[in-house]
Amino acid sequence: MKSFFQRYTPLQIAIHIYAWSVLVMLIVGYFTGNLSANPIQALEQRTGRHAITLLVLSLACTPLNNIFGWRELIKRRRALGLYAFMYATIHVIIFVDLDYGLAWSLIVRTILEKPYIVVGMIAFLMLVPLAFTSFDIWKKRLGRNWKRLHRFVYLIAPLVALHYAWGKKGDFFRLQGEIIRPLIYSLVIIILLIMRLPQVRKALASLRDRILVLFRKREPQPKADTP
Ligand code: HEM
Repeated sequence: MKSFFQRYTPLQIAIHIYAWSVLVMLIVGYFTGNLSANPIQALEQRTGRHAITLLVLSLACTPLNNIFGWRELIKRRRALGLYAFMYATIHVIIFVDLDYGLAWSLIVRTILEKPYIVVGMIAFLMLVPLAFTSFDIWKKRLGRNWKRLHRFVYLIAPLVALHYAWGKKGDFFRLQGEIIRPLIYSLVIIILLIMRLPQVRKALASLRDRILVLFRKREPQPKADTP
């Protein structure tokens, strides 16, 4: 029988540990009163931030594989995406249940009054089919449409960044308010999207090949056998 470390790679273990330990810490923090003066808001904000972080990490897998040739990243996209969905779902449950006590008319009024929540809701609704069809059985069933469907993540990520930035009520142009974090996430998302463009991908691939050739040239060559 394979041992634990033969079955799972360090990256796989790190992803699962990150996702579950954060959740355990949030639950313990909430029930021990260690979150902040406003624990529900803290839960809402932190689950939102973990959701966007995991979403960005899942988006980064393909470009990083293209640059560094780290093929394992491609296999980990699904886990990262599903954990992003898990945190987004918890985030939404906290909003409707803990924050608004399932008072649906109030929830609908709040959503309509605050456009950044409408944006978050659109992003969440778009995430649902991606999460449910992320399994191999759906990949087979949907064929080429699976790829088309999952390209929606390139729309979802900017929407989530907009939801984040807009909710913070900062001024992007004057760089005022709590805009640094949403700005960093937005920039990373923009860079990751640019890296998906075919011309940029080609340029990065040829850069990688040139660097590899350079490294190979520097490696000491085996001495030729003397006759
Ligand atoms: C129905 C869908 C959603 C609702 C109702 C919702 C609601 C909210 C609310 C009320 C806040 C403000 C919390 C506060 O500062 O008091 C918030 C912030 C946030 N949400 Fe959402 N959200 C939704 C979807 C999403 C999704 C899908 C993601 C990510 C994948 C997300 C990520 C975030 C982030 C990163 C923040 C900012 C956290 C911070 O202030 O540090 N949200 N959301």
